Amino acid sequence: MKVFITRELPEIAFRLLKENKISFGYYKKDQPIPRKLLLEKIKNCEALISLLTEKIDKKVIDQMPGCKIIANYAVGYNNIDINYAKKKNIIVTNTPDVLTESTADLTMALVLACARRLSEGEKLLKTKKFKGWKPKLLLGMELKNKTFGILGAGRIGSAVARRAKSFGTNIIYVDSNRNQKLEKETAAKKVSLNNLLENSDILSVHLPLNSQTHHYLNHNRLNQLKRNSILINTTRGEIIDEKALIRLLENNRIMAVGLDVFENEPNINSELLKFQNVLVLPHLGSATKEARDGMAELAVKNVINVLKNKPALTPVF
Ligand code: GLV
Ligand code: GLV
Repeated sequence: MKVFITRELPEIAFRLLKENKISFGYYKKDQPIPRKLLLEKIKNCEALISLLTEKIDKKVIDQMPGCKIIANYAVGYNNIDINYAKKKNIIVTNTPDVLTESTADLTMALVLACARRLSEGEKLLKTKKFKGWKPKLLLGMELKNKTFGILGAGRIGSAVARRAKSFGTNIIYVDSNRNQKLEKETAAKKVSLNNLLENSDILSVHLPLNSQTHHYLNHNRLNQLKRNSILINTTRGEIIDEKALIRLLENNRIMAVGLDVFENEPNINSELLKFQNVLVLPHLGSATKEARDGMAELAVKNVINVLKNKPALTPVF
Protein backbone atom coordinates (compact mmCIF):
# COMPACT_ATOMS: atom_id res chain seq x y z
CA MET A 1 0.00 0.00 0.00
CA LYS A 2 1.58 3.23 -1.20
CA VAL A 3 -1.00 5.74 -0.05
CA PHE A 4 -2.80 5.87 3.27
CA ILE A 5 -5.90 8.03 3.56
CA THR A 6 -7.16 8.78 7.05
CA ARG A 7 -10.86 8.73 6.07
CA GLU A 8 -13.15 7.73 3.26
CA LEU A 9 -13.11 10.50 0.64
CA PRO A 10 -15.43 11.30 -2.29
CA GLU A 11 -15.37 8.56 -4.93
CA ILE A 12 -13.23 10.57 -7.35
CA ALA A 13 -10.24 10.15 -5.03
CA PHE A 14 -10.37 6.36 -5.21
CA ARG A 15 -11.13 6.38 -8.94
CA LEU A 16 -8.05 8.48 -9.75
CA LEU A 17 -5.79 6.31 -7.61
CA LYS A 18 -7.12 3.14 -9.28
CA GLU A 19 -6.74 4.62 -12.77
CA ASN A 20 -3.12 5.35 -11.95
CA LYS A 21 -2.63 1.88 -10.48
CA ILE A 22 -1.54 3.25 -7.13
CA SER A 23 -2.32 1.02 -4.16
CA PHE A 24 -4.06 2.64 -1.22
CA GLY A 25 -5.78 1.98 2.04
CA TYR A 26 -8.08 4.12 4.17
CA TYR A 27 -9.71 4.21 7.58
CA LYS A 28 -13.26 3.07 6.98
CA LYS A 29 -15.12 4.49 9.97
CA ASP A 30 -16.50 7.99 9.53
CA GLN A 31 -14.70 9.41 12.55
CA PRO A 32 -11.12 10.46 13.28
CA ILE A 33 -8.74 7.51 13.14
CA PRO A 34 -7.42 6.55 16.60
CA ARG A 35 -3.85 7.77 16.89
CA LYS A 36 -2.44 4.34 17.69
CA LEU A 37 -3.99 2.88 14.57
CA LEU A 38 -2.76 5.78 12.47
CA LEU A 39 0.81 5.25 13.67
CA GLU A 40 0.52 1.59 12.75
CA LYS A 41 -1.09 2.04 9.33
CA ILE A 42 1.32 4.62 7.93
CA LYS A 43 4.61 2.82 8.55
CA ASN A 44 5.28 1.86 4.95
CA CYS A 45 3.36 4.53 3.09
CA GLU A 46 4.90 6.80 0.46
CA ALA A 47 2.05 9.28 0.68
CA LEU A 48 -0.38 10.28 3.39
CA ILE A 49 -3.67 12.03 2.74
CA SER A 50 -4.72 13.62 6.03
CA LEU A 51 -7.70 15.56 7.33
CA LEU A 52 -7.74 18.58 9.62
CA THR A 53 -8.92 16.25 12.39
CA GLU A 54 -5.50 14.55 12.57
CA LYS A 55 -2.46 16.04 14.19
CA ILE A 56 0.49 15.28 11.92
CA ASP A 57 3.31 16.00 14.34
CA LYS A 58 6.93 14.84 14.65
CA LYS A 59 5.91 11.44 15.95
CA VAL A 60 3.63 10.75 12.99
CA ILE A 61 6.20 12.04 10.51
CA ASP A 62 8.97 9.93 12.07
CA GLN A 63 6.78 6.89 11.64
CA MET A 64 6.89 7.24 7.82
CA PRO A 65 10.53 7.05 6.73
CA GLY A 66 9.54 6.43 3.10
CA CYS A 67 6.97 9.22 2.90
CA LYS A 68 7.31 11.71 0.05
CA ILE A 69 4.15 13.76 0.46
CA ILE A 70 1.53 14.68 3.03
CA ALA A 71 -1.51 15.91 1.14
CA ASN A 72 -3.90 17.67 3.49
CA TYR A 73 -7.57 17.46 2.52
CA ALA A 74 -8.13 21.09 3.57
CA VAL A 75 -6.88 24.53 2.70
CA GLY A 76 -5.71 25.12 6.28
CA TYR A 77 -2.70 23.05 7.35
CA ASN A 78 -2.19 24.09 10.96
CA ASN A 79 -2.68 20.41 11.89
CA ILE A 80 0.70 19.56 10.29
CA ASP A 81 4.16 20.31 11.64
CA ILE A 82 5.31 21.72 8.31
CA ASN A 83 8.76 22.74 9.52
CA TYR A 84 9.51 19.19 10.55
CA ALA A 85 8.08 17.79 7.31
CA LYS A 86 10.32 20.18 5.38
CA LYS A 87 13.32 19.05 7.37
CA LYS A 88 12.50 15.46 6.45
CA ASN A 89 12.14 16.43 2.76
CA ILE A 90 8.45 15.63 2.74
CA ILE A 91 6.28 17.79 0.49
CA VAL A 92 3.11 19.15 2.11
CA THR A 93 0.15 20.19 -0.03
CA ASN A 94 -3.26 21.71 0.73
CA THR A 95 -6.45 22.27 -1.30
CA PRO A 96 -6.75 25.98 -2.11
CA ASP A 97 -9.10 27.51 -4.72
CA VAL A 98 -11.46 24.53 -5.04
CA LEU A 99 -13.23 25.46 -1.79
CA THR A 100 -13.02 29.25 -2.04
CA GLU A 101 -16.48 29.91 -3.49
CA SER A 102 -18.25 27.44 -1.19
CA THR A 103 -16.58 28.89 1.90
CA ALA A 104 -17.40 32.42 0.80
CA ASP A 105 -21.04 31.39 0.24
CA LEU A 106 -21.22 30.00 3.75
CA THR A 107 -19.62 33.13 5.15
CA MET A 108 -22.30 35.26 3.50
CA ALA A 109 -24.96 32.89 4.79
CA LEU A 110 -23.68 33.60 8.32
CA VAL A 111 -23.52 37.35 7.64
CA LEU A 112 -27.13 37.44 6.44
CA ALA A 113 -28.32 35.09 9.16
CA CYS A 114 -26.73 37.30 11.83
CA ALA A 115 -27.84 40.58 10.26
CA ARG A 116 -31.44 39.38 9.96
CA ARG A 117 -31.54 37.24 13.09
CA LEU A 118 -32.61 34.09 11.25
CA SER A 119 -31.87 31.68 14.03
CA GLU A 120 -33.86 33.69 16.58
CA GLY A 121 -36.74 33.95 14.11
CA GLU A 122 -36.80 30.26 13.41
CA LYS A 123 -36.67 29.44 17.09
CA LEU A 124 -39.62 31.76 17.76
CA LEU A 125 -41.71 29.90 15.21
CA LYS A 126 -40.68 26.40 16.16
CA THR A 127 -41.36 27.08 19.85
CA LYS A 128 -44.80 28.38 18.82
CA LYS A 129 -44.14 31.86 20.16
CA PHE A 130 -44.90 33.75 16.93
CA LYS A 131 -48.05 35.77 17.58
CA GLY A 132 -48.10 37.69 14.31
CA TRP A 133 -46.31 40.51 12.48
CA LYS A 134 -45.06 43.33 14.69
CA PRO A 135 -43.40 46.63 13.77
CA LYS A 136 -40.48 45.88 16.04
CA LEU A 137 -40.19 42.12 15.85
CA LEU A 138 -36.56 40.95 15.55
CA LEU A 139 -35.22 44.07 13.90
CA GLY A 140 -31.89 43.51 12.23
CA MET A 141 -29.32 45.39 10.20
CA GLU A 142 -29.57 46.31 6.52
CA LEU A 143 -26.31 45.73 4.68
CA LYS A 144 -26.49 48.59 2.18
CA ASN A 145 -23.97 51.34 2.96
CA LYS A 146 -22.53 49.44 5.91
CA THR A 147 -18.79 49.03 6.31
CA PHE A 148 -17.72 45.47 5.68
CA GLY A 149 -14.32 44.59 7.13
CA ILE A 150 -12.19 41.76 5.81
CA LEU A 151 -9.40 40.54 8.09
CA GLY A 152 -7.13 38.69 5.67
CA ALA A 153 -7.79 39.47 2.01
CA GLY A 154 -6.53 36.25 0.45
CA ARG A 155 -8.55 33.93 -1.75
CA ILE A 156 -11.53 33.42 0.57
CA GLY A 157 -11.50 36.93 2.04
CA SER A 158 -11.57 38.36 -1.49
CA ALA A 159 -14.42 36.08 -2.57
CA VAL A 160 -16.40 37.23 0.49
CA ALA A 161 -15.64 40.87 -0.33
CA ARG A 162 -16.97 40.46 -3.88
CA ARG A 163 -20.21 39.03 -2.50
CA ALA A 164 -20.49 41.71 0.19
CA LYS A 165 -19.92 44.41 -2.43
CA SER A 166 -23.01 43.24 -4.32
CA PHE A 167 -25.06 43.99 -1.19
CA GLY A 168 -23.96 47.62 -1.35
CA THR A 169 -21.43 47.56 1.48
CA ASN A 170 -18.18 49.52 1.56
CA ILE A 171 -15.24 47.18 1.84
CA ILE A 172 -12.18 47.81 4.00
CA TYR A 173 -9.48 45.23 4.60
CA VAL A 174 -6.35 44.38 6.50
CA ASP A 175 -3.68 42.22 4.92
CA SER A 176 0.09 42.18 4.92
CA ASN A 177 -0.06 42.74 1.17
CA ARG A 178 -1.97 45.24 -0.86
CA ASN A 179 -4.59 43.44 -2.99
CA GLN A 180 -4.90 45.61 -6.07
CA LYS A 181 -7.17 43.16 -7.88
CA LEU A 182 -9.63 43.29 -5.00
CA GLU A 183 -9.40 47.08 -4.82
CA LYS A 184 -10.19 47.31 -8.52
CA GLU A 185 -13.11 44.88 -8.33
CA THR A 186 -14.76 46.18 -5.17
CA ALA A 187 -13.26 49.62 -4.44
CA ALA A 188 -11.96 48.02 -1.24
CA LYS A 189 -9.60 50.14 0.85
CA LYS A 190 -6.61 48.78 2.74
CA VAL A 191 -6.69 50.21 6.27
CA SER A 192 -4.86 49.83 9.58
CA LEU A 193 -5.96 47.16 12.03
CA ASN A 194 -7.26 49.83 14.42
CA ASN A 195 -9.33 51.36 11.63
CA LEU A 196 -10.71 47.95 10.64
CA LEU A 197 -11.70 46.99 14.18
CA GLU A 198 -13.21 50.36 15.03
CA ASN A 199 -15.15 50.95 11.82
CA SER A 200 -16.42 47.60 10.55
CA ASP A 201 -20.16 47.06 10.94
CA ILE A 202 -19.48 43.51 9.88
CA LEU A 203 -16.04 41.98 10.44
CA SER A 204 -15.23 38.70 8.73
CA VAL A 205 -12.08 36.82 9.70
CA HIS A 206 -10.04 35.07 6.99
CA LEU A 207 -6.54 34.72 8.43
CA PRO A 208 -4.82 31.34 8.32
CA LEU A 209 -3.99 29.89 11.74
CA ASN A 210 -0.30 29.87 12.65
CA SER A 211 1.83 30.90 15.60
CA GLN A 212 1.39 34.59 14.71
CA THR A 213 -2.38 34.48 14.42
CA HIS A 214 -3.26 32.36 17.46
CA HIS A 215 -5.65 34.53 19.54
CA TYR A 216 -5.10 37.36 17.07
CA LEU A 217 -8.47 38.71 18.15
CA ASN A 218 -7.60 38.95 21.83
CA HIS A 219 -9.41 40.82 24.61
CA ASN A 220 -8.01 44.23 23.62
CA ARG A 221 -8.73 43.90 19.93
CA LEU A 222 -12.22 42.47 20.49
CA ASN A 223 -12.96 45.43 22.71
CA GLN A 224 -12.04 47.78 19.88
CA LEU A 225 -14.88 46.39 17.76
CA LYS A 226 -17.63 48.84 16.90
CA ARG A 227 -20.62 48.57 19.21
CA ASN A 228 -23.46 46.57 17.67
CA SER A 229 -21.29 45.13 14.96
CA ILE A 230 -21.35 41.58 13.62
CA LEU A 231 -18.33 39.27 13.87
CA ILE A 232 -18.00 36.25 11.57
CA ASN A 233 -15.39 33.49 11.72
CA THR A 234 -15.15 30.74 9.10
CA THR A 235 -11.38 30.13 9.28
CA ARG A 236 -10.06 28.56 12.51
CA GLY A 237 -11.48 28.95 16.00
CA GLU A 238 -8.09 29.59 17.62
CA ILE A 239 -7.80 32.97 15.86
CA ILE A 240 -10.33 34.35 18.38
CA ASP A 241 -9.78 34.21 22.13
CA GLU A 242 -13.13 32.60 22.92
CA LYS A 243 -13.06 33.51 26.61
CA ALA A 244 -12.62 37.17 25.67
CA LEU A 245 -15.41 36.85 23.10
CA ILE A 246 -17.73 35.46 25.77
CA ARG A 247 -16.98 38.49 27.97
CA LEU A 248 -17.76 40.79 25.06
CA LEU A 249 -21.10 39.05 24.58
CA GLU A 250 -21.86 39.19 28.31
CA ASN A 251 -21.26 42.93 28.22
CA ASN A 252 -23.63 43.29 25.27
CA ARG A 253 -20.91 44.92 23.21
CA ILE A 254 -21.73 43.17 19.95
CA MET A 255 -24.88 42.70 17.88
CA ALA A 256 -24.23 39.14 16.75
CA VAL A 257 -21.53 36.56 16.20
CA GLY A 258 -21.54 33.90 13.47
CA LEU A 259 -19.12 31.03 14.03
CA ASP A 260 -18.37 28.04 11.82
CA VAL A 261 -15.20 27.15 13.76
CA PHE A 262 -14.24 26.86 17.44
CA GLU A 263 -11.21 26.72 19.66
CA ASN A 264 -11.59 23.12 20.79
CA GLU A 265 -13.53 21.43 18.04
CA PRO A 266 -15.61 19.37 18.32
CA ASN A 267 -15.98 20.38 21.97
CA ILE A 268 -17.77 23.71 21.99
CA ASN A 269 -17.58 25.98 25.03
CA SER A 270 -21.13 25.74 26.39
CA GLU A 271 -20.96 29.38 27.54
CA LEU A 272 -20.99 30.40 23.88
CA LEU A 273 -24.13 28.42 23.14
CA LYS A 274 -26.31 30.24 25.64
CA PHE A 275 -26.32 33.56 23.76
CA GLN A 276 -29.25 33.94 21.37
CA ASN A 277 -27.18 36.30 19.20
CA VAL A 278 -24.48 33.70 18.61
CA LEU A 279 -25.13 31.61 15.52
CA VAL A 280 -23.10 28.43 15.37
CA LEU A 281 -22.42 25.92 12.60
CA PRO A 282 -20.44 22.66 12.70
CA HIS A 283 -17.46 23.63 10.47
CA LEU A 284 -19.37 23.57 7.19
CA GLY A 285 -17.34 26.09 5.17
CA SER A 286 -16.32 23.72 2.40
CA ALA A 287 -19.25 21.35 2.84
CA THR A 288 -20.65 21.27 -0.69
CA LYS A 289 -20.51 18.44 -3.19
CA GLU A 290 -18.56 20.68 -5.57
CA ALA A 291 -15.91 21.75 -3.06
CA ARG A 292 -15.40 18.33 -1.50
CA ASP A 293 -15.05 16.66 -4.92
CA GLY A 294 -12.58 19.36 -5.90
CA MET A 295 -10.61 18.88 -2.68
CA ALA A 296 -10.48 15.09 -3.16
CA GLU A 297 -9.34 15.45 -6.76
CA LEU A 298 -6.67 18.02 -5.91
CA ALA A 299 -5.32 16.10 -2.91
CA VAL A 300 -5.02 12.92 -4.99
CA LYS A 301 -3.51 14.71 -8.01
CA ASN A 302 -0.84 16.14 -5.72
CA VAL A 303 -0.07 12.62 -4.51
CA ILE A 304 0.00 11.13 -8.02
CA ASN A 305 2.34 13.86 -9.27
CA VAL A 306 4.79 13.46 -6.41
CA LEU A 307 4.79 9.66 -6.64
CA LYS A 308 5.61 10.06 -10.35
CA ASN A 309 8.43 12.48 -9.52
CA LYS A 310 6.54 15.47 -10.93
CA PRO A 311 6.08 18.74 -9.06
CA ALA A 312 3.18 18.99 -6.62
CA LEU A 313 0.29 21.19 -7.83
CA THR A 314 -0.33 23.07 -4.60
CA PRO A 315 2.65 22.78 -2.24
CA VAL A 316 2.47 24.93 0.91
CA PHE A 317 6.20 25.72 0.89
C1 GLV B 1 -11.34 23.65 6.26
O1 GLV B 1 -11.50 24.18 7.33
C2 GLV B 1 -10.16 23.76 5.47
O2 GLV B 1 -9.14 24.27 5.95
O3 GLV B 1 -10.20 23.31 4.32
C1 GLV C 1 -44.27 43.36 5.00
O1 GLV C 1 -44.59 42.20 4.95
C2 GLV C 1 -44.84 44.40 4.18
O2 GLV C 1 -45.74 44.12 3.37
O3 GLV C 1 -44.35 45.53 4.30
